[in-house]
Amino acid sequence: MMKAIHMQLLKVASCCLVIGCLAIAVLVHGSEKAKADRPVVSVVIVGGTGDLSTRYLWQGFYSLYQGQKDKFSFDFYGAARMPASEGDGQLASILKHNVSCSKSVQPGLGCQTLLDAYRAMVSYRKLKTADDYADLCKEMEQEEAKEHGRLFYLSVPPFAYAGIAKNIAKGCRPESRAWLRVVLEKPFGHDHGSAEELATQLSAHLREEEIYRIDHYLGKIGVQSILPFRMLNDGNYKDLWNREHIERVEIVMKEKIDSKGRLEFYNEYGVIRDVMQNHLTEIFTLVAMEMPANISSRREFLNNKIRLLQQTQPVKPHQAVIGQYDGYVDQWREELGKGPSDETLVPTFTAAALYVENPRWKGVPFVLVAGKKLDERLGYVRVVFKDNAVCVTKAGRNGSVNRCSKHQQMIFYTGNPGLKYPAILVSDHLPKPMLPTSWSVPNNDPNTDIFGSNLSDFYYFSPPKDQDAYTSLIASCFHGDQKMFVGTDDLMASWRIWTPLLQSLENKRPRIYTGGEDTGTWLDFRVKDRTVKYIHEQEDPWESADAAPVFQSITDRFRSRPLVTGKEESVVAQLAQHLLSIAAESIQKRGSFHIAFPGGSTPRSLFAHLAKLSNLFPWEDTFVWMVDERCVPLTDDHSNFKQLHDSLLQFVNVPYLNINPMPVKLANGFCDASDKGAETYEDDLRQIPDGRLDYVLLGMGADGHVASLFPNHPTVGEKSAKVTLSDGGPKNNVPDRMTLTLPTINNARHAGVLILGKGKRDMVSTLKTEGVGDPLRYPVTGVDLKKGEQVWYIDHEALV
Ligand code: BG6
Repeated sequence: MMKAIHMQLLKVASCCLVIGCLAIAVLVHGSEKAKADRPVVSVVIVGGTGDLSTRYLWQGFYSLYQGQKDKFSFDFYGAARMPASEGDGQLASILKHNVSCSKSVQPGLGCQTLLDAYRAMVSYRKLKTADDYADLCKEMEQEEAKEHGRLFYLSVPPFAYAGIAKNIAKGCRPESRAWLRVVLEKPFGHDHGSAEELATQLSAHLREEEIYRIDHYLGKIGVQSILPFRMLNDGNYKDLWNREHIERVEIVMKEKIDSKGRLEFYNEYGVIRDVMQNHLTEIFTLVAMEMPANISSRREFLNNKIRLLQQTQPVKPHQAVIGQYDGYVDQWREELGKGPSDETLVPTFTAAALYVENPRWKGVPFVLVAGKKLDERLGYVRVVFKDNAVCVTKAGRNGSVNRCSKHQQMIFYTGNPGLKYPAILVSDHLPKPMLPTSWSVPNNDPNTDIFGSNLSDFYYFSPPKDQDAYTSLIASCFHGDQKMFVGTDDLMASWRIWTPLLQSLENKRPRIYTGGEDTGTWLDFRVKDRTVKYIHEQEDPWESADAAPVFQSITDRFRSRPLVTGKEESVVAQLAQHLLSIAAESIQKRGSFHIAFPGGSTPRSLFAHLAKLSNLFPWEDTFVWMVDERCVPLTDDHSNFKQLHDSLLQFVNVPYLNINPMPVKLANGFCDASDKGAETYEDDLRQIPDGRLDYVLLGMGADGHVASLFPNHPTVGEKSAKVTLSDGGPKNNVPDRMTLTLPTINNARHAGVLILGKGKRDMVSTLKTEGVGDPLRYPVTGVDLKKGEQVWYIDHEALV
C-alpha cells in the first residue's frame, strides 16, 4: 500500500514539474494526509483501456470521486492484459482526452484542479493471471476499520467473467466488513439456457448481493423518473393505470446508426437480444409492475418486478414482426470476410407485443419496438388512453378544447430528453401531474409536434440536469442501490419471455427496409387480436406465398415433393417447428390457424412434442379439426379424438369453442347416414377462411391408406363430398369411420404426411418406384396439393 502511495506521489510530482501545478501536489499531499482518517474505497476497472471505459467509465468515476472525496479515500486502478510499459501510456492518454470538466456533474470552480488530481491518482495494472489479482488485492488491504469497499467493474467480454470472478473471490474479497461489488456489462447470455449457465458460474464465486449487472438504460433520467412519477401521482392516476383505461403502451427505441463496425457481435445477437430483452424489457417493468408500497425497498421492488415478468406471456411468433435494413448482409460479408453467397437472417428491427396475464393488464398490448437505421434517434414510452368521449360542441367554441380529435396520452422520453423534448408529457385532459419541485417547465417551442398534437396540449416537465447514465449507475453501485441493476431472477424471467420467439425466428426471413427516412411507412404495423402484422403487404415472394419460407431450405425430395428425414425425434421436431411457423403466418394473415389432425399411433410423438411447446404455440387462435374418426364414443380408447385429447389437447390452451370433433354419434346412433353427420362437418368446414384448412396432417397405413381412405374403396375417388363415411374396406358395407375426402385434403394450404417406423418400410419403397401413382391402389398417392405446399416427413427407419 505504502509503495502505491509513493508511486502516486512520484507521478503527481512529475506531472507538477511538467505543468508547474503546485495546487495538485498540495491537494494530493493533503489528501494523503487526510487519507489516514477516511475510509478507503478501491476501484478497479478491468478492461480499463477499452471503448466503454474510454467513453463513459473514467468520466463516471471522476464524478463519483468529485462527490465523495470529502468522505472517502479512493484508489483507482485501470487494468488490462497488456504490460505496464504499454498500459501506462494508454491509460494516461484516455484520462487526458476523455475525462473533462465540461462533462462533469459539477463543472464549476475547482473542477480542473480536482480533475488533475484524479488523473494522477489512477494507476495502470496488468491483470492477467491469478497471481496478478492476488498481488493487486494484497495492495488493497487496509487496517480493518479503515476499509470501506472494493468495486470491480468488468468491462470485458462475458466469456471472461467466470475466470475473473474466481480470481476476485479467491484473493480479493475483503476480510473486514467492507463490501465487495462486481459490476458486469451485458450480454448476460444468448438465451435462457446460456444466461442460466453464466449465472450458475458466477454464483459459484460471488454472492447475489455482490453482483451488479448493469443496464445503462436504467441510469437514464427519463427511465429513472418513471417509477417515482407513478409513485408521486398515485392519487392522480392510480385508477387510470389499468386495462379499463389504457389502450396500449408503446415502448420504443429508434436508432439512426447502423451496426457497422460491430457486426461480429451484432450478428450473433440481433436487435432482440441487443436491446429488447434488456433495455426495453426493463422499461416495461417500470411501467407495468405493481407499485411497491415502499419504493426504496429492493426486496419489494424486486418481488413486484419478478411477479410481473412471470405473468408476462412468452412472445409468440405471430406477436412479432422482424426487419433487416438493406445492405446489412453486405456489411456483414465485408466485415467478417464472408463469401457472396453467405446469408444472415439476423433482424435489425423488431416490433413485438407483450401481454400480461393479470387483472390489471389482461389484453393490453405493450408494444416494444426497436431498430437500427431508422429515420430518427428517439426513445420513449407512450401510454395511450382509451377515450370514449363524444364531443357535441364544436372545437374552439367558447374556448372549449376538442378532446375528441386528440389522444389522451402520457409520454416519457427515455432517450435524450431535454434536447428536443421535455422528459415527461401528460395530455392536458388528464389530471395535472405532480413532480419533484426541482423539475421545471422547459423552454421548448410550444408548436413542437408530439404524435400529432402540439406540445402546448400537454403538461410537460424536464429534470434539472440530464445526467449521463453511467455516472448515475456508478453512483448507485457505490451506494449499494442494487435496485438499479439486474438481478439473477429477473434476468432469467426476462429471457423466458424472449427465448421461444428467438428460437422460432432462427429461419425466418426478415422484411428488408431501405433505412433512414426512405423507409417511409414500410415498417408500420398493426396490433390486432393479439397479432402483430405489417400494414403493407410484402411483394417479395418470400412473404407473400402461402408456403412458409422454411420449406425452401429443405433440399431432399420424395415423389417430387420436399422431404424431411432423419431420426424420429429430429423429424418430429422439424415438423413441430414448421407447424409453428405456418401457424404464425396463418394467424398474421387471416387471424386464425385451422389444422386437421389424424389418428393412429404415428402422431403421438408429435403430439408430445407440441405439448412441450405449449407456451410458444398460438393455441388460443388455433382451430382443431379431425382428419378422420372412428364410429365409437369419443370416450372410447379407439377414438382418434380421445387420443388427440389425451396426448395433446388436455395440455394446451385451445379454447373449447375452437375444437371440432367429428359428429359420429347423432340421433340414430353411430355414423348413421340419415343423421347427415358428414354433411354437418362439411358445413362447419365451409365457414373457415376461404373454406381451406391451413394444415392437414396425415399418417399413412402400411397398405398405403391415408385418412380413412382405403385401397380400392370408392371413397378414394369421391369428387364432390368434403367429408364422407367410410367402412374401412371394399367388402364391408357398414360405415365405421368418418373421414375428410381427397378434394378437401388437396384444397388445404399445407399438408404433411408423417411416416415413422419399420412397419412402413415396404410401402415407402413401393412409393419410391417409378410409376406408382394410382390413388385407388395407393390412396396416399392421391394427396396432391395443387395450390398448397406438401411435405413428406419420413424417418430413417421407414425410408431405408
Ligand atoms: C447498447 C446497444 O446497449 O445500447 C447498442 O448494444 C445501442 O446497439 C445502444 O446502440 C444505445 O444506447 P443509447 O444510450 O445510445 O441509446
